[in-house]
Amino acid sequence: MNALNALNSLDQKRVVITIQDAKRSFEMGDQRVNALAGVNLTIREGEFVALMGASGSGKSTLLNVIGCLDHLNSGEYWLEGEAVNRLSSDQLARIRNEHIGFIFQNFNLLPRLNAWENVALPLMYRKQVIDYRALACGMLEQVGLKKRMLHNPVQLSGGERQRVAIARALITNPAILLADEPTGNLDSVTGVEIMALLGDLSRQGRTILMVTHDAGIAAHAGRWLMMRDGKIIEENNNDVD
Ligand SMILES: Nc1ncnc2c1ncn2[C@@H]1O[C@H](COP(=O)(O)OP(=O)(O)O)[C@@H](O)[C@H]1O
Ligand SMILES: [Mg+2]
Repeated sequence: MNALNALNSLDQKRVVITIQDAKRSFEMGDQRVNALAGVNLTIREGEFVALMGASGSGKSTLLNVIGCLDHLNSGEYWLEGEAVNRLSSDQLARIRNEHIGFIFQNFNLLPRLNAWENVALPLMYRKQVIDYRALACGMLEQVGLKKRMLHNPVQLSGGERQRVAIARALITNPAILLADEPTGNLDSVTGVEIMALLGDLSRQGRTILMVTHDAGIAAHAGRWLMMRDGKIIEENNNDVD
């Protein structure tokens, strides 16, 4: 594919996320921290974006805003065309459940539920009559973990727990998968396996935004954003060469 074709094909992809002049600050005693100091960002369907930058540069704050876990003080955020920063907290919870899949560094599984129950959890918040178990097991199969469906999180390795968390994030078929240091609590071999899984999902067309400070992990992405002091200061992608 030549450079122009690559550009055109990306241009025709649907916009999933648009953020304009996003600002978020926190009061700490008599100090104000500008965690987001004017961020502009567009993410299109199918992109695999790595968000990089030093500790404290605002990566998690941006991911939390995009994941509807936090709100902006000013600026605009549209998720699949919906103006998110004008929504009530109930509406935000609905958007989160319908459009967002979140993967955390520490997996965030519920210890009393087994693997398939953890995966099915986002579906249970919906008032639909569906076969949760069949859907959850199908998703566990996709992440290579069907034979662990009855295991509780303590009976699983770190890599297996993260696979459960990925299956849970995908069960609602979200518009975007958000991952905050998804390999941060894994040994390097397991981390590579989890990145291979995210790479497969990306090739299947999933839209992924991943925070990492590890260049080797970021190399799996197709576009890189560098944050410093609450701003995106640099951007690269490998679609055009
Ligand atoms: N809930 C909070 N209360 C106060 N300060 C916060 C809060 N969340 C983040 N911050 C501050 O905002 C800045 C950006 O934090 P964060 O987005 O977590 O950075 P990163 O993920 O890049 O390490 C840091 O200075 C951090 O201390
Ligand atoms: Mg962080």
